Amino acid sequence: MSIEQLAETAQAMVAPGKGIIAIDESSGTIAKRFAAVGIENTEENRRAYRELLLTTPKLNEYISGAILFDETIRQSTRDGVPFARYMADNGIIPGIKVDKGTHPLAGFPDEVVTEGLDGLRERLKEYYQLGARFAKWRAVINIGDDVPTGTCIEANSQALARYAALCQEQGLVPMVEPEVLMDGEHDIETCYEVTEATLRSLFGALYEHNVLLEGAILKASMVISGKDCPDQAGTEEVAESTVMCLKSTVPAILPGIVFLSGGQSDEDATAHLNAMNQLGQHPWPLSFSYGRAMQQAALALWAKDMKGNYAKAQETVHARARDNGQAALGQWKK
Ligand code: 13P
Repeated sequence: MSIEQLAETAQAMVAPGKGIIAIDESSGTIAKRFAAVGIENTEENRRAYRELLLTTPKLNEYISGAILFDETIRQSTRDGVPFARYMADNGIIPGIKVDKGTHPLAGFPDEVVTEGLDGLRERLKEYYQLGARFAKWRAVINIGDDVPTGTCIEANSQALARYAALCQEQGLVPMVEPEVLMDGEHDIETCYEVTEATLRSLFGALYEHNVLLEGAILKASMVISGKDCPDQAGTEEVAESTVMCLKSTVPAILPGIVFLSGGQSDEDATAHLNAMNQLGQHPWPLSFSYGRAMQQAALALWAKDMKGNYAKAQETVHARARDNGQAALGQWKK
């Protein structure tokens, strides 16, 4: 795989006015999402729900790619078309979550490190054959008393860099995701400092591991107040702080940055992205790779009456994609 092909895929992922839908919830996470709306967590329900999302009419107007979970990339539509083929035929690039989740970092209470490097080369080979063209790895950085430590940031950056290098070797675009969690009482300044340190460490590690940035995408968390912070920063401050932090840490050669929603409301996730893009031209396109902020309204609708609300749920997915696609251009109107 040439770097030109990786770069072409990466650029297509952040084409103007388009973003990614993340539907790569692990078995544990989808169980929680289904339980919250009273859906039984069976393999068929997970398949049917992912089919609803991926077959939303005209989804490709605003969606360039979708991130799948291991189970999902092996599943098919009810008509027997493998999801990855359905997506490719409909102009949506198949992506795959390849990390194996977070585990406690030994010796560092309250901190986690993401696992999944063992056997990753072979798994990537198989995912490529199944149709995946990009792969996501999520590292999690907690903010709290005396955390994060430099050791935790470093351990996660090293893992992200090793996974990213393996992806490029196997012809997949790495979507590197260091998520600084919103959980906690911390203020936006603390989030800024932690995000800055995390991104500096990450891009240092990517450089040391010979990862070619022109064939990679960053999935970032926004610089935002902690969920329980009494003094919540407004939309403009989130937008300005996030852009400033990214400009001071992320090389301009990167093809694009997409954001996770991280527990923000649907409207906040859209408004923050829109405000960033209204600040003017940035070195890279800023778009979205939302999970909850793309899906939660549709899931609630579908859950009410699993068959009856199918079309309505798909309309909601399309509407969320349109709003976020417009926000990626700074053209969203509330
Ligand atoms: P949220 O947008 O729900 O945070 O999920 C995006 C994601 O893929 C996190 O890894």
